[in-house]
Amino acid sequence: MNVLIVGGGGREHAIAWKLARERVVSRVLCAPGNPGIARVADLAAVDAADVDALCALAAHQAIDLTIVGPELPLDRGLVDRFRAQGGRIFGPPRAAAQLECSKVFAKSFMARHGIPTARYRVCGNAHDARAIVGSGEFGFPVVLKADGLAAGKGVVVAADLDEAERAIRGAMEERQFGDAGSRLVVEECLSGPEVSFFAVCDGTRALPITSAQDHKRIFDEDRGPNTGGMGAFAPSPLLDRDLESRVMREIIEPVLRGMRMEGTEYRGFLYAGLMLTCAGPKVIEFNVRFGDPEAQAVMPLVDSDLAPLLAAAADGDLGAHTLRMSRHVSVGVVLASGGYPGPIKSGVPIDGLDDAARVDGVQVFHAGTALKDNRVVTAGGRVVTVVATGRDYADARARAYGAVDRVSFDGMQHRRDIGLKALGPAGRQAAESPHRV
Ligand code: AMP
Ligand code: GLY
Repeated sequence: MNVLIVGGGGREHAIAWKLARERVVSRVLCAPGNPGIARVADLAAVDAADVDALCALAAHQAIDLTIVGPELPLDRGLVDRFRAQGGRIFGPPRAAAQLECSKVFAKSFMARHGIPTARYRVCGNAHDARAIVGSGEFGFPVVLKADGLAAGKGVVVAADLDEAERAIRGAMEERQFGDAGSRLVVEECLSGPEVSFFAVCDGTRALPITSAQDHKRIFDEDRGPNTGGMGAFAPSPLLDRDLESRVMREIIEPVLRGMRMEGTEYRGFLYAGLMLTCAGPKVIEFNVRFGDPEAQAVMPLVDSDLAPLLAAAADGDLGAHTLRMSRHVSVGVVLASGGYPGPIKSGVPIDGLDDAARVDGVQVFHAGTALKDNRVVTAGGRVVTVVATGRDYADARARAYGAVDRVSFDGMQHRRDIGLKALGPAGRQAAESPHRV
């Protein structure tokens, strides 16, 4: 099978790495890819958002299955275009991608289909948004979300009226996010641990993959500004079997049913960002693709061949396919450029990547890297994800950080506490004691 992967970050590297190891896969092509992906796949210099060029590429390269990494091409209708020309592609059509690309759509879809989520109101102008926040309907903190894609910056959890006012003014009057902020969702603030859950969907059926926990803030102990994600571990110990079936029954399956009722089929990865509240799991957000850095943590745990499974899902018939996951767990640590998530300097030489990859159980997935004079240099905010599998979280953490310590570049920043949450109180104490590495 010839597979095309659309995208060029850590998530796409992890997917390419996994597929390249499978016997049924004869060729992996990635557009546009990165220098890490180039070690496991061929690269095509085509932008991940260039729908026309991607359609032409798949046709010319005799691609049997295309897998879409990021959300932008989905929002631009890549799947609809591929299908129209008879191509086989794993990802939702544009109408279904609105689950991620429009928060207003996602909230009203969940309301229509009884999917548990925070109570909310939609506001079309700053006056209405101020009135709703001021009415005290949701109290404080209150959550404000720009409707459209805002590069991960569109959500504000406002502690008080001042902060809410700044968010409303920024999105609706100063148009910080352009059209993406012309409508705002104002919603109740939920509390509880956050867990990400992933499923493979074929339009009518969904297979659970696993869960993970992301670490969005730049600094240890969840301090500092939000980022694209500084690390992840998988699975989440919080999502046991019972809770997983509840999420499938109350959230994932109703999404598929709801999409069908509304005339579209959800085929692709479905990512549910959940808050485990005392009233049960509630949806914080949906993503219509795999997570980054969650994919890097999850792919090394997938024992089954993924290519036949994703091809069957793309055909709308998962049939009797099952998904076998490893009993191991994983911890992935993102190494980021100095200054991230603010302005960064690119072109900084990176040392030790091969050395890190030699640690048993470790994979190094590239995100923002480039080649300069035959050396790997930084080329983005999040540079690489160092992932280790292990028999438990302490083991995976020790391997991951053992490998992280072999990598260095000027300005490199990373968190030291990825996976600590998974250890439980006793494990945390042991990990923090000076006698342990
Ligand atoms: P998002 O950009 O949609 O991933 O949201 C960013 C973060 O905002 C989430 O990871 C949550 O931590 C937080 N968040 C979003 N919605 C809520 C909510 N209703 N209650 C509490 N926190 C929320
Ligand atoms: N890690 C969060 C995301 O992929 O959106």
